[in-house]
Amino acid sequence: MSFPWAKQYTPSHPFMKWMDERLPLPRLVYNAVGSGYEVPRNLNYFWNFGFLAGLCLVLQIVTGIVMAMHYAANTEVAFDTIEHTVRDVNWGWLMRYAHANGASAFFVVIYIHIFRGFFYGSYKAPREMVWLLGVVIFLLMMATAFMGYVLPWGQMSFWGAKVITGLFSAIPFVGEPLQQWLLGGFAPDNAALNRFFSLHYLLPFVILGVVILHIWALHIPGSSNPTGIEVKSESDTVPFYPYYVAKDGWAIGVFAILYCAMVFFAPNYLGHPDNYIPANPMSTPAHIVPEWYFWPFYAILRAFTQDFFFIPAKLMGVLAMFGAILVWFFLPWLDKSPVRSGAFRPVFKWFFAILVVDMLVLFYCGGAPAEEPFVMISQLASFYYFAHFLIILPIVSAIEKPKALPFSITESVLGKDEDAALEPSA
Ligand code: HEM
Repeated sequence: MSFPWAKQYTPSHPFMKWMDERLPLPRLVYNAVGSGYEVPRNLNYFWNFGFLAGLCLVLQIVTGIVMAMHYAANTEVAFDTIEHTVRDVNWGWLMRYAHANGASAFFVVIYIHIFRGFFYGSYKAPREMVWLLGVVIFLLMMATAFMGYVLPWGQMSFWGAKVITGLFSAIPFVGEPLQQWLLGGFAPDNAALNRFFSLHYLLPFVILGVVILHIWALHIPGSSNPTGIEVKSESDTVPFYPYYVAKDGWAIGVFAILYCAMVFFAPNYLGHPDNYIPANPMSTPAHIVPEWYFWPFYAILRAFTQDFFFIPAKLMGVLAMFGAILVWFFLPWLDKSPVRSGAFRPVFKWFFAILVVDMLVLFYCGGAPAEEPFVMISQLASFYYFAHFLIILPIVSAIEKPKALPFSITESVLGKDEDAALEPSA
């Protein structure tokens, strides 16, 4: 499918053959995730995270559908229906904790998947479309997770919704009417809860659609690899089945151990205790914090404390928060280095490491109270974040002298073994 030597497929089983002639699904599976899909032979474990992300999406959809059977999107009863699910419904506790911790697991996996892309230059040509669709998926994931957190209608649900929908009021002229239109009222209430539930149910299926496009776009050039060198000959690849099916199976095992440890032994560790208090619009919590996976972006939002001429601080915070993700759309064009993989870029490597530390600092500040020294640290870290993408990366990519690349993927695996490497066919 993706490579010129992709194999033609005629199913051996008579039923599959009959099916393939009428609806070529067996052919699709064979060429997309079977032995017809040739994949670079040197993929490391970071290449398992795309598959794990797909697994998380399926887990969230399945557990979410079961939860929805017992949930009622009404402010009078929403909190109680969740408690009822956990306490009275058979296996309801498992569905709830699997879903809540599944959201966290999904974001851990996605952050690793994205940072893998940053380091190995997966966003570079010819995979720009894979990357752009990925950024769309990430934005959709954030919207879905935000709306999901509102559904239990606890204190953090309500106040989180109030703060985040309040951000729209920062938009000049249309902000307040827009905020009221989105909420269906002046503050989060029944109308908002209902539409959040409706969208929270819908968006995972939209994400699924975009994931299909993401993988389709990936199958055109095929996966990149840790060297960043393109496939040159058949000896550079192995078939997806059985090699990477087995490796993804191993990744499922490790993931399952960590995920089950959270779900069964620390199901509330990542949640906020205040969300076990029913929403009370008359009592503001001491610190309103979103879920941990929003913290780096929340820190950027709160880093703006002073109006800048006629631009209010709140508006700048909102623009910066969205800008922090939107800048990823331009990454394929901001990084001009002819070398794809960070492994061969001695200067880039260091700045990548600083970016990781910077994100961790933002993460910490986003979860901390909005007071000094966290505000100042967030300001410095936010400045660095944008400087990395808009200044450092374009300059480094223009002046850096990359290391010598191996001749081929096969050579990078087996060394200069002339018997092992076939002559390049392209
Ligand atoms: C539900 C979310 C997602 C799913 C299910 C998903 C799935 C996948 C899969 C299965 C692969 C191939 C295996 C691999 O390379 O790991 C892949 C590759 C890729 N994904 Fe994702 N992805 C998701 C989100 C994202 C996001 C948010 C981004 C970036 C912002 C992204 C960027 C990429 C890129 C650039 C590649 C190509 C990597 C390469 O070959 O070097 N993906 N994705």
